[in-house]
Amino acid sequence: MAAYERKQTIGLFGFGVVGESLYHVISRSPASQAEIKRICIKHARKERSLPAEMFCSDAGEIIGDAEINLVVELIDDPEKAYEIVCSALKAGKNVVSGNKKMLAANMDNLIRLQEETGMALLYDASACGSIPVIRNLEEYYDTDLLLSITGILNGSSNYILSRAFHNDATYEEALAKARELGFAESNPSLDVDGYDAVYKLSILAQHGFGVTADPDKLFRFGISTLDRADIRFARERGYRIKPVAQAVKYSGNRLALFVMPKMAGPGDHIYNVEDEYNGVVIEGTFYDKQFMFGKGAGGYPTGSSVLSDIMARTHGYRYEYKKRRYFTPPAEGSSVKLEVYFRYNKPEQSNLIDFESISEKYITSDYSYVVGITSLEKLLVARDKLYGQPLFLAFTRVL
Ligand code: HSE
Repeated sequence: MAAYERKQTIGLFGFGVVGESLYHVISRSPASQAEIKRICIKHARKERSLPAEMFCSDAGEIIGDAEINLVVELIDDPEKAYEIVCSALKAGKNVVSGNKKMLAANMDNLIRLQEETGMALLYDASACGSIPVIRNLEEYYDTDLLLSITGILNGSSNYILSRAFHNDATYEEALAKARELGFAESNPSLDVDGYDAVYKLSILAQHGFGVTADPDKLFRFGISTLDRADIRFARERGYRIKPVAQAVKYSGNRLALFVMPKMAGPGDHIYNVEDEYNGVVIEGTFYDKQFMFGKGAGGYPTGSSVLSDIMARTHGYRYEYKKRRYFTPPAEGSSVKLEVYFRYNKPEQSNLIDFESISEKYITSDYSYVVGITSLEKLLVARDKLYGQPLFLAFTRVL
């Protein structure tokens, strides 16, 4: 058998916003050499826009179909997605997936399974929608000179912040619109509380630095507690608030990883990235900064990224995981220092974060804030106590 086949006969799992868009993207790409043969869905009887005989609800009808050489997995449920991906690889089928949680939570196992089966798993759609960031990190930046990856990785959070900042929309209005437009996850807490971004960051850390980072252990702070006071603070100083995920290499071959809003200034490449757009700044030793920009959410942008992975299989492309194979990956570390804006509403919350130095303090009977220097390590200590509280956190710079 050839190492790869040009014609991709696809078994698709999931026919939600991205699955249905993928169908249309493939139909409109005549050179695609790809055809969706069968679609496995939860509710096979639900009325669909395609002939009923294309649908099934038994995964075995796809996994056991010898004609299907590529499984495309676009379902919500990460546990089910993992089962599907593993059984497809074991059955000798290549796989394209967009499920960031499933990928981030099982990365080492999935790399091993690809080696054992000889099959390929591609997932560029899992991070930054239409921006080909994973393949770029894997192929172009295949040296150990990368210094940092800083990105807006969650389109819904960026959309909500943009609407709140520029259109004075309330958080609820902006979130409802993000859901209506198909950007948000079925459980929007995954977007606004930063989970989606830590999964994506963990995937980028693998391809950028060869590091397998457990997403549950990373520092994560989202945007769901944003208040008018935070927007006022940002506006007064010429900042815009952006939902950022960052991987930064620092002294002693260490890598710090975190997700947190940033008070971004006009000099930041991400300053002008608005709405559901994502932006990724890649910094290296010899080329300073490079910037990738594009739609990070929505059916067609994500569907086109899935199609790109499908097409990559027609010439046998697979990830080599070069950074972990050919270099000594950095160790995860948290001693890196950050300047942070911390707004809280109750006086007893003032001690939740241990600051090494404070440059600004503002206290009123309604709310207070401090700006000061702390470390990622100290934020990790405070992390769980910050959740579910009427307070907000954003960094201004990494020192
Ligand atoms: N809910 C995700 C986002 C979809 O808003 O970025 C794309 O991964």
